[in-house]
Formats: sequence, C-alpha cells, structure tokens
Amino acid sequence: MTSAYVTHFGFDGAPFSKEIADDKLWLPPSKEGLVDEVCDALKDRESLVLTGDPGVGKTCVLRVIRQRLPQAGFRLTYCHNATLGRRDFYRQLCLALGLSPSATAAAVFWAVSTHVEELGRERVHPVFLLDEAHLLHQDVLDHLHILLNYQWDSKALLSLVLVGLQELDARIDMRRNRSLASRLARKVSIGKLSPDDTAQYVRRRLALVGCEKDVFTSDALAMLHEAADGAHRDIDKLATLALREAARRKKKLVERDVVARVTASDDVESP
Ligand SMILES: Nc1ncnc2c1ncn2[C@@H]1O[C@H](COP(=O)(O)OP(=O)(O)OP(=O)(O)O)[C@@H](O)[C@H]1O
Ligand SMILES: [Mg+2]
Repeated sequence: MTSAYVTHFGFDGAPFSKEIADDKLWLPPSKEGLVDEVCDALKDRESLVLTGDPGVGKTCVLRVIRQRLPQAGFRLTYCHNATLGRRDFYRQLCLALGLSPSATAAAVFWAVSTHVEELGRERVHPVFLLDEAHLLHQDVLDHLHILLNYQWDSKALLSLVLVGLQELDARIDMRRNRSLASRLARKVSIGKLSPDDTAQYVRRRLALVGCEKDVFTSDALAMLHEAADGAHRDIDKLATLALREAARRKKKLVERDVVARVTASDDVESP
C-alpha cells in the first residue's frame, strides 16, 4: 500500500526505506577510501576491526565491500547474532558455512577449521564478518584468536572482520584480549557524514524514487543534518517524518520550519 506522502510528492516508493538494494547504496567520497582500505586488507588476508556510532552505515559498508570483492576468490560469511555463547556461536558459524552443526565445541571447531583449510587449498579466502561484535560474549572473544591460527600460526587462511560500536575498540584493547588484538592488523573507524554528504545523500535517495527536484530547501537540509548528527539512520527517520508533515500541510517543498517541527516532536517521543 502506498503512503499518502509518497502519493502527494509523486514518488515511486518510500525514499528513505531501509529496503535499499546493494547496488543502490551510496558512498560519500569520504568513505570510498575506507572501503578501499578494507578491501585491500582482505586481499592481504588480514583481519580487522570496523567501528562507528549507531546508524552511521557500518552494515551498509559491509554490503558495499561484499559487492567490491572479487566473487571468485572470497567466501564471505556474515554473522550478526553476537549474543550467543561460544558453543552456539560455533554452531551458527557451521550453519552459515553449510556444515552440519556438531554437538561439542571441539567438534565444531574441528569442522570449521577443516573447512577453512579446504577453502585455502581451493584458493578461496574465507572472511567472517561479525556484526554487532561489541555484544560478543567474553568467552567467544577468548577463543576468536584460535580461529586465526592455522598450521602452527604460520598461515592466515581466514580473515575476521569485527564490526560494532565504538566500545568494541576499548574491549579489544583490554589486556585479556591481547592475543586477539595482536592478530587484528588494523582498526578502521566510520565517521559521521558531513553537511555536504547529507545533502547529497538526501538527493540521491530522492532520485532513486524518481524525484530529481530539490524537495528540501538548503536550510531544511542543514537542520536535518544537525538534528541527525550525520547518521544515516536518523536522517532517514527525520526526512520521512518531514515529508509526511509537509504532505499533511499540502506543501511540495520541505522548509526549515517543518524539519524544526518534526525534530522537536521526535525529541519529545524519544525516551
Ligand atoms: N551507503 C548507504 N547508502 C544508502 N543508504 C544507507 C547507506 N548507509 C546507511 N544507509 C541507510 O541508513 C540505515 C542505517 O545504516 P546501517 O544499518 O548500515 O547502520 P549501522 O552503522 O550498521 O547501524 P547499527 O549501529 O545500529 O548497526 C540503513 O538501513 C540505510 O537505510
Ligand atoms: Mg549495523
């Protein structure tokens, strides 16, 4: 069913929906370098940490990376259920790799490591992307470095990409996690969008639903950027509220007062 505001503006769909196809994702020029850095690290079979504030686009960056890496040479496995204990974590990893889950942690570990070695012989480099990694249980973190040890720790048959909120960095830096930290070649941080990035992002998402006009005034965009603090998800949420409010007022242009109105009521509604 089409929302009233989508019809009012004549869009082909909801412009700021989270259901955006991989090939429609947009990267500001400032994030291109970051994506290149991660792809290069993975081509060098390194492991790394990727952190950023909520909603800045970490998971979408992973989707861009999946698209950019040559399909033939890499097998990417994405896990986001980071709240599992060690045993269930390995079971999930088995399932993601298409292996039958074993009953004991030792058997699961053996299955995963044998599989990883097989892929190595086929010259396919496995990459485990662990999203929401700031939520990982300590007993999982304690074990992760073992996953990176192959052939007496002389080979990197597997890359691990730990993705999460900023506090993940601090956890990795804890003394207890130093075996893991020393095997993570680099830490990459995803920053907020700049005001220009926000304006381009909004235009780009509107263009994807067939709207090439400037629906937001530049004042409205500046305010949207500030209220969302340069985070994609908040831009999506506030821009949608602003479009709805403008449609309710029967306006075809979103001006600063509309954005002010929705940001004020969003603040009241947020806990
Ligand atoms: N590169 C992009 N192109 C288009 N839309 C994007 C992009 N990055 C983020 N978004 C939009 O912002 C939303 C939030 O992005 P994403 O889920 O990647 O953030 P996150 O940093 O992983 O958040 P969290 O910390 O909550 O996991 C997405 O659902 C999408 O609508
Ligand atoms: Mg995410």
